[in-house]
Amino acid sequence: TGLTTLDQGFVNTAATQSAITYIDGDAGILRYRGYAIEDIAANSTYLEVAWLLIHGELPTAVELDRFEETIRRHTLLHEDLRRFFDALPHSAHPMSVLSSAVGALGTFYEDSLDVHDPEQVEISTIRLLAKLPVIAAYAHKKALGQAFLYPDNSLSFVDNFLKLNFGNMAEPYVVNPVLSKALERLLILHEDHEQNASTSTVRLVGSTEANIFSSISAGINALYGPLHGGANEAVLKMLGEIKASGESVEKFVERVKNKEEGIRLMGFGHRVYKNFDPRAKLVKESADEVLDALGVQDDLLDIAKELEAVALADDYFIERKLYPNVDFYTGVIYKAMGFPPRMFTVLFAIGRLPGWIAHWREMNADPATRIGRPQQLYVGPTERAWPRR
Ligand code: CMC
Repeated sequence: TGLTTLDQGFVNTAATQSAITYIDGDAGILRYRGYAIEDIAANSTYLEVAWLLIHGELPTAVELDRFEETIRRHTLLHEDLRRFFDALPHSAHPMSVLSSAVGALGTFYEDSLDVHDPEQVEISTIRLLAKLPVIAAYAHKKALGQAFLYPDNSLSFVDNFLKLNFGNMAEPYVVNPVLSKALERLLILHEDHEQNASTSTVRLVGSTEANIFSSISAGINALYGPLHGGANEAVLKMLGEIKASGESVEKFVERVKNKEEGIRLMGFGHRVYKNFDPRAKLVKESADEVLDALGVQDDLLDIAKELEAVALADDYFIERKLYPNVDFYTGVIYKAMGFPPRMFTVLFAIGRLPGWIAHWREMNADPATRIGRPQQLYVGPTERAWPRR
């Protein structure tokens, strides 16, 4: 119609109202339900933030306790789902494994997927939060060819996840508290980011009244791409290539500016943040702390810092308001923790899960929700006569 305007990439169009996350991109402000990300990162836990995002208020001590306990009771995967991993190749990218397994997870609960029943939405929420880390760890173990461990419900959420990834059947696993605290902080920083590509995907799929497992499986696929969550893996690849080639950081930045083969400085730039990404600031603080505490020295961190300094002093990046984003330093930390690069975006997905759930539920509970259905501006041929043959 004459009223349809073109907004490629949805730069100016709000698809929904939302009360979950506030971002002021010019001022570098991020708040979950009104609380500053800096306060949240310093004081909270992954599951407490998940509750906050989903329910809108901080949980009481009793509510949090019950929430954690319920999630602990749902960590086991159906044995048939454990075998699902056998059908996939060891070379499978863990993000593909993750989205496939989450889609498959829904098949085990088909009798409890009524999107209009609050109790069923609640139990699906619990199952997703409890089982996604287990699925993620199995994707990791699968790639390594190692046996899957069963969850250890005597451990906290994050410690259990670490054990599932780094423990083995032969030895007891001792949790390193430095690692555990750092991972919890990184997960918190990823928990929500309003209408990014993956969350918008979850909402769009959910707007068709598809169940929450299918919606979130779609969100994981959207996160996989290197312009979104896949950037954390791409950053590490980029840093490794710079190191291996011996090319100077200045030379690499020059090639980025010349858009040689369309290369970008991965982990830089953001659709919304045009001053700085407050998450990147917090992650950078963590990088030094974690590497020091783990006694890891990594040249890639030095290259990353040099890249940041060179880019931030360069007109190309200044004019375009390009700053390091959340993905710039996370890979170096995940690597120091012992995760392979292909697991980095999977860690992002675990972090983002509570946000996806909160948005799916907000969308699902809102009577104003309508099926998402963008318009287009048709630019193809006008009507043509079918050729005589
Ligand atoms: N390196 C070099 N140039 C860039 C970069 C970059 N990382 N990002 C944007 N530009 C340039 C781009 O070429 C364009 O220049 P010109 O006007 O000369 O054509 C200008 O800056 C505007 O870029 P855009 O692509 O129109 O910006 P966008 O808002 O559509 O894209 C972005 C945002 C994050 C996709 C983009 O900045 C990017 O590709 N960054 C690298 C990938 C990345 O780090 N993604 C993670 C994002 S944060 C967390 C997450 O969502 O997962």
